[in-house]
Amino acid sequence: MRLSVAAGDGWSEGTDALILLIPEKSKDARLEKALALSALAKRGVFEGKRDQVYALRLPRRGAGRGPEVAVLAGLGKADEAAQETVRRACGAAGRKARGEGARSVAVSLEGAIGRSLKAEEAARAAAEGLELGLYRMERFKGAKGREKLAGERVDRAVLCGGKASPAALRRGMKLGRALAEGTAVARDLVNTPSNEKRPPSLAAEVRRIARRAGLRCTILDDRRLRRLKMGALLAVARGSSAPARVFILEYRPGRGAARPIAFVGKGVTFDTGGISIKPSSGLELMTTDMSGAAAVVGAMVAVARLRPRVPVVGVGALVENMLGADATRPGDIVRAMSGATVEIHNTDAEGRLVLADALHYTKTRFRPQCMIDLATLTGACVVALGEKLTGLYGTHDELLARVKRLGEETGDRVWHMPLYPEFGEMMKGKLADLCNISGARYGGANTAAAFLQHFAGGTPWVHLDIAGPAHTSKDEPYRPAGGTGVGVRLLAELARTWTPLPRQKGKAFGT
Ligand code: BES
Ligand code: MN
Ligand code: ZN
Repeated sequence: MRLSVAAGDGWSEGTDALILLIPEKSKDARLEKALALSALAKRGVFEGKRDQVYALRLPRRGAGRGPEVAVLAGLGKADEAAQETVRRACGAAGRKARGEGARSVAVSLEGAIGRSLKAEEAARAAAEGLELGLYRMERFKGAKGREKLAGERVDRAVLCGGKASPAALRRGMKLGRALAEGTAVARDLVNTPSNEKRPPSLAAEVRRIARRAGLRCTILDDRRLRRLKMGALLAVARGSSAPARVFILEYRPGRGAARPIAFVGKGVTFDTGGISIKPSSGLELMTTDMSGAAAVVGAMVAVARLRPRVPVVGVGALVENMLGADATRPGDIVRAMSGATVEIHNTDAEGRLVLADALHYTKTRFRPQCMIDLATLTGACVVALGEKLTGLYGTHDELLARVKRLGEETGDRVWHMPLYPEFGEMMKGKLADLCNISGARYGGANTAAAFLQHFAGGTPWVHLDIAGPAHTSKDEPYRPAGGTGVGVRLLAELARTWTPLPRQKGKAFGT
């Protein structure tokens, strides 16, 4: 989609649709006259409530100048408008406009800019909302289906900021667009079926994406992984006829030799559970079990566009958890790259095994300032927090605080979860150093995080359990059903706004 900015109210941009962001109880005199807002409100059709959208077809004047349809999008209470409200409003309104046949839209941001939102923030959120809301995966439709989709496409959007500075609007638009593009990359990967993204082909696709984005890309093949002694990761891959891969994406700013920050993603391209096989109902969802790695790729694409001052590395561990003749058995003991031995009591607790080696590798290879891992790690996290929230774990207070704040700002909402030393104790093995499950019935997200903590060691580290929000089965305003790309915008913003972490005293890392 071509995005641009303009001054004014959007009525004369020559677009098919005009999206009007309208706070609740709006008293805008011009809009009152043009759209009879009060009549709509009285009839209970549109009051400007948050997430409300309403399309009005406008009568044609003469040769058909001006928009054919106005889409009203509610912002809720005027002084509570946040970026998330605008993102949701524009996501829903963009889709409404597309449904009304519009190929181009103008968005009047005037109703959003004011007390609680700057022009730049409003433009950013609008760009994100439009791009993310209009996202869809077209690749897997046949010729007829694609033709139909081509006929229903918004390919131009103008963000109109009234009297706001065009430079500020443009800055916001560019940021929002970069974040949305990265998110779309992650969504495409997640929405690709598992038969088309087995680890070697997914790694090849990551390489193509990296080349286009101007990122350095290294792929470690199974021979390299064996030489590196990644025994935990390889134990998961054994049951599959497809070998494991690890990708490493590197962004380096022009100058400076600062240590990088690192993102690490779980990339299980399909999770059958292995010998501890999962029940068949809902199993097709396990195609999304590589959402952590997908988020890393998407975030790196956004980082390459945004060019932050800090170097960034993104590591993804790609394996398929199957139950072939050579699959790992419950009770097997493996040696992780760190040297720690692990009893595998449940082959379905595979994500932590894969991440154990990915984290250790990242820590020793890059000596990063911090590591953030993302993983669809536990069903327990979904039970605890529901499908919309990411579980946040970590030990570095300032890093945790940043991730929490950016979670609110980007809409990739996180909730801080506990990581007590006792949880680490629960992951000790009988014969080996560690066991991959705790044996406790409940609190599985916490013990899984404690297992990872062992491998993060002394590096400031955060773990994001995205098992809930990685995927949505129902359309949300800017998250169409399917992979959501959760984490991309949060990670990219963490990199863009990075400043060195303070040293944290008085808290021990590791178990
Ligand atoms: N990929 C799953 C977690 C998951 C579950 C993601 C539901 C998305 C939706 C993970 O590998 C897994 O199977 N975890 C087990 C761990 C258990 C065996 C300790 C789980 O959560 O049941
Ligand atoms: Mn599993
Ligand atoms: Zn899994």
